This record gives sequence, structure tokens and C-alpha cells, in this order.
Amino acid sequence: MSHRKPRILSGIQPSGDLHLGNYLGAVQNWVRLIDDYDCFYCVVDLHAVTVPYEPAEMPARVFDLAVGLLASGVDPDRCTLFVQSAVPQHAELQWLLGAITPLGELQRMTQFKDKSGQWGSVNAGLLTYPVLQAADILLYRAERVPVGADQQQHLELTRELARRWNHRFGEYFPEPQPLFTRARRILGLDGVAKMSKSMDNVIPLLAEPDEIRARVSTAVTDPARVRKDDPGNPHVCNVFALHGFMSPPAERADIEILCQTAGIGCVACKGKLADNLADELSPIRERAAELRAHPERVHEVLGDGAATARRVAEDTMAEVRARMGLGQPS
Ligand code: TRP
Ligand code: SF4
Repeated sequence: MSHRKPRILSGIQPSGDLHLGNYLGAVQNWVRLIDDYDCFYCVVDLHAVTVPYEPAEMPARVFDLAVGLLASGVDPDRCTLFVQSAVPQHAELQWLLGAITPLGELQRMTQFKDKSGQWGSVNAGLLTYPVLQAADILLYRAERVPVGADQQQHLELTRELARRWNHRFGEYFPEPQPLFTRARRILGLDGVAKMSKSMDNVIPLLAEPDEIRARVSTAVTDPARVRKDDPGNPHVCNVFALHGFMSPPAERADIEILCQTAGIGCVACKGKLADNLADELSPIRERAAELRAHPERVHEVLGDGAATARRVAEDTMAEVRARMGLGQPS
């Protein structure tokens, strides 16, 4: 009999259409892990309500993200894809974990400090966001969590909450280990900030080739290369970094030399990148269009995923309630 695969949980916020940074930084990873782990992938809409948002837009944000994930290769036959708010136990476990969470640790979280500085008034949800994240992970007793650098602190808190809970109520939760994947911080078209919708520096994952070309043409290159016959330095150029992800190694090696010897101009170099991006992303865009034409398929996938997730969540919470002495006395 084959050994049980270790379980993974990861979450992604429904914060607008997927872009190349999400794809290269997170989603491709999710796809790679599918066969080696028992993967639970969650669209974390409960996390998304901690900042101002438009309720009427939320269902479409969740749907669009699900479409993007499925089109990118998150295969629902080999993993569990679901929406967080469809499994009410996330919020229940979050409350119970909140009871053993030191306030000081939440106040020290870098993401809390950054975000609370951004918004005028700070709500408690922004502060307790990492407790909900811990609940996401512990509810499925996940052993591994793929994390980027920005989520390490939250995972460390999750590990601490698992230890505290086990210490108080008896060994039950595995301490989830980080799964460090090739750390990829994809810079945006400005070549400075991380690619993110709020910075308006993205290449949308589902963009048509024309839009890809138009976006790439605005990318900042080696700032020292002013004229076409100046040699460039590809190693300070984000266009070259993107070639690294999207272009065949031989083409990339050529570009490196051509750039350094002024044998290629930035316009042509960006043109090649746009072509390769369009080739790579076209099948994803086509799959997404197909899914959009059959929304019932997406709803079914998410419904099945939520049913699977709820079965696990119910078992966990039955044990948690019993050990914490909760529920109607019998
Ligand atoms: N906070 C994570 C982010 O902003 C998303 C997230 C929510 C998550 N729950 C999670 C990631 C559980 C990993 C595991 O990216
Ligand atoms: Fe960057 Fe390409 Fe221009 Fe070199 S030729 S600076 S790699 S865009």
C-alpha cells in the first residue's frame, strides 16, 4: 500500500484578476505540488473582507480567481479547491485559537503594521487576520504550507498556536512545516516594486496578445542604456528577468550577449518577450474562456471541493470541541 501523502494547505486572496506575478510566484507552484501532496487550496474570501470592499463584486472576484486557477492547471480531480466561507468551521476554529493567541504577537506582525498604516481606522479583523490563517491550516491538520517570504511570520505564529493548543488540550495538531519553494519575487513593469495590482504594474494572466505587447512595451529596462547603440546590462533589467521565466534558455543566452554588445535594442527585446509570453499564456486564456462559457462547471468544482473540505473540517472540529469541553453537555 502506498504511504499517505503529506497534506498541504494554501490560500489565495480573491483580490482581482490573476497576473503574471501570482502565476509565477504562487500558482505554478500549487500545480507542481499536486501529485506529491494531498493539496487543499482555498480561495480566502474571509480574509478579503478585512479591508474595504464592495459586496456586490465579491462573487465575481471569487469566480474569476477560481477560473484563473483552474485554467492555470490546478486540477480539481487531483486536489481540493474550495472557497473558505463555504466551510464555516474556519471562523469557528479561528475564535477558539484567538483564545490562546497573545495580543502582542499579533501587534508585532509586519503585515499588520504595514496595512494598519495604510488605512485610516484599523479594525480588529486586520489584527486577527493571522489567527484566521492559522485556523485555515490547522483545520485540515496540514503538515506543509508553501510560503513566500512575506508569509513566514504568519506560519511561525501558526506553529506556535499549534504548540500552545496541543500543550493545553493534548497533542492533536501537527506543527506545519514551511515548504520553501524557489523564492520568486516577480517585479512589476516598473522594474522596482513587486508585481501587484495595487501598483498598476502587472501583466494580467489572461491578457490578449495585443494587450501583452502593449504592457510589455512600457516595461522599464536598464536605465543606463539611453541609446540603442549603448551596450546594456541585462542583469539589472527586469525584461531580461522575465525572459528567464518565459523564454527558452538558448534564446535567453543569445539576448544576454546581444544586449551586452548592443546587438539588440530594447524594443526588439521586449517584442521577443511579448511573443513568448503570448505563446505561454494563450492556452491558459483559452481554457479560461471555455470555463467562463460553462460557469456551472466552476460552481460544481467549488461545490465538490467545499463538500470534501467540510468533511475534514467537521472531523477536526468534533475533536477540538470535545477536547476543549464545548458543546451541549451529554
Ligand atoms: N495570507 C495569505 C496571503 O495573503 C493568504 C492565506 C490565507 C494563506 N490563508 C492561508 C496562505 C493559509 C497559506 C496558508 O498571501
Ligand atoms: Fe533589457 Fe533587453 Fe534592453 Fe537589454 S536589450 S536592457 S535585456 S530590454
